[in-house]
Amino acid sequence: MPPPPITIILAPLQGFTDVTYRNVYSDHFSGVDEAVAPFISTMGQMRIHPSRIKDLYPEKNRKLPVVPQILGNVATDFIFLADQLYTMGYHRINWNLGCPHSKIAKKKRGSGLLMYPDKIDAFLETVLSKISNTLSLKIRLGRRSKREIFTLLPILDKYPLDEIILHPRTGIQMYEGTSDHDAFGEALQNCQHPFTYNGDITNVNTFHTVQKKFPHISRFMIGRGILSNPFLAEQIKGLQVDKNPIERLNAFHDALFDSYQTIFSGPAHLTGRMKGFWSYLGPSFKESKKPLKAILKAGSIDKYQDRVADFFKDAPEFIK
Ligand SMILES: Cc1cc2nc3c(=O)[nH]c(=O)nc-3n(C[C@H](O)[C@H](O)[C@H](O)COP(=O)(O)O)c2cc1C
Repeated sequence: MPPPPITIILAPLQGFTDVTYRNVYSDHFSGVDEAVAPFISTMGQMRIHPSRIKDLYPEKNRKLPVVPQILGNVATDFIFLADQLYTMGYHRINWNLGCPHSKIAKKKRGSGLLMYPDKIDAFLETVLSKISNTLSLKIRLGRRSKREIFTLLPILDKYPLDEIILHPRTGIQMYEGTSDHDAFGEALQNCQHPFTYNGDITNVNTFHTVQKKFPHISRFMIGRGILSNPFLAEQIKGLQVDKNPIERLNAFHDALFDSYQTIFSGPAHLTGRMKGFWSYLGPSFKESKKPLKAILKAGSIDKYQDRVADFFKDAPEFIK
């Protein structure tokens, strides 16, 4: 049987894949089919500050289908936010059960909730009977142990879910070590929900390795791999674009810079955000250490722009 058609989902990366990035990215590259937006936290007082959801205004999100993501563990607050999102037109939402950061996990949010399957059970029982949206989960194998998921999966089977997006690491692992393919495979065998694979797809080879191991998986979420190689989704899908890759990256960079310039008021904000992208993209160029360092050290917008112009004028080979 031929493999199922592939769907590539842009991962939520707080501080990176916001609406500006998603729009500029889809103007310059193809191959990504949809995105899960970086999380919005629920707030206790059942109110929503516009700054929390402005990235999700439908009129700004016409280029790439987007699934909003909520981080929280209080059912009433979650339902309130889910309803707002439904009114805005978001019929699919995602619950973040994967965030590894200890500050969040300590509050039993994100991956911190994975150690409490009963709480997840009670939460889903309440929430799913009250929201109009359909729900998917983004999870890790566990908080402390990669076996935690095997207590959780039979509970998840009781509920209607769009899908489970599994990043096969534990929370305390953060991003250390490698994604555990064996544990991912075992999770597939122990749950009836459709799964999306997420973790460490950094090039076409790693994609094929995952695809070969899990031939029934058709949905792949990619985060850091796309930040470091924006061509990755096109490469995976074999889409040919007849244009010089360095010129494309340069045009993408400049459009991203221009868009962020209209948003960020302070120069440090703007250069800080752009340097974040360079920290992923830069190492994908051959012998880029020195010119990359010059960009990352630029102390003003003018210097930043000069150094980026120098970089692209003499661009090292893009090796991804
Ligand atoms: C800087 C950064 C921010 C992230 N923000 C979120 C987030 O808002 N919500 C979420 O579910 N995962 C978040 N993640 C996790 C990613 O979505 C993804 O699961 C992880 O990076 C593994 O996939 P990758 O190897 O393709 O990058 C973040 C990861 C990074 C590195």
